[in-house]
Amino acid sequence: MGLFSKDIKTMDDLFVHQLQDIYYAEKQIKKALPTMIEKATDTQLRNGLQAHLGETEGHIRRLEQVFQQHGVEAKGTDCPAIDGILEEADEVTGEVEDKQVLDAAIIAAAQAVEHYEITRYGTLTAWAKQLGREDCAALLQQNLDEEHAADSKLTKLAESGINRQAA
Ligand SMILES: [Fe+2]
Ligand SMILES: [Fe+2]
Repeated sequence: MGLFSKDIKTMDDLFVHQLQDIYYAEKQIKKALPTMIEKATDTQLRNGLQAHLGETEGHIRRLEQVFQQHGVEAKGTDCPAIDGILEEADEVTGEVEDKQVLDAAIIAAAQAVEHYEITRYGTLTAWAKQLGREDCAALLQQNLDEEHAADSKLTKLAESGINRQAA
């Protein structure tokens, strides 16, 4: 179902479509993270990504709860945006030989993912409130907060040395 599909008529339809989009995205991220963890060489970076893999599993479960509370089936819809981000991450990190440069590339790719999630959860939280679904908004906000925290941790890691060592 494309974004401008005739199936989307109301705010509610749009909300559900966007939920399906991020549900698909989270599942793709869950599949991609182990490869990024494997490639990362800095221990803190590996641990951070590993911890976020656990959080990502939690995001998927929270989304399933949101679907349930909203009375719709939990299912994903293709999200070419996240596919593109992950594909690019794979390509860029595949080409880097220097370990520290590789870590810098992994951080950059991971932050692109976080920013995608942040934009989606920001919108979804606002729409849930607009639709009077404070219960759904509260769950979506929790995912949003964890994406923000993950992004900040990556910034700190980058600034604390990985980028500098790579220069
Ligand atoms: Fe997530
Ligand atoms: Fe994330």
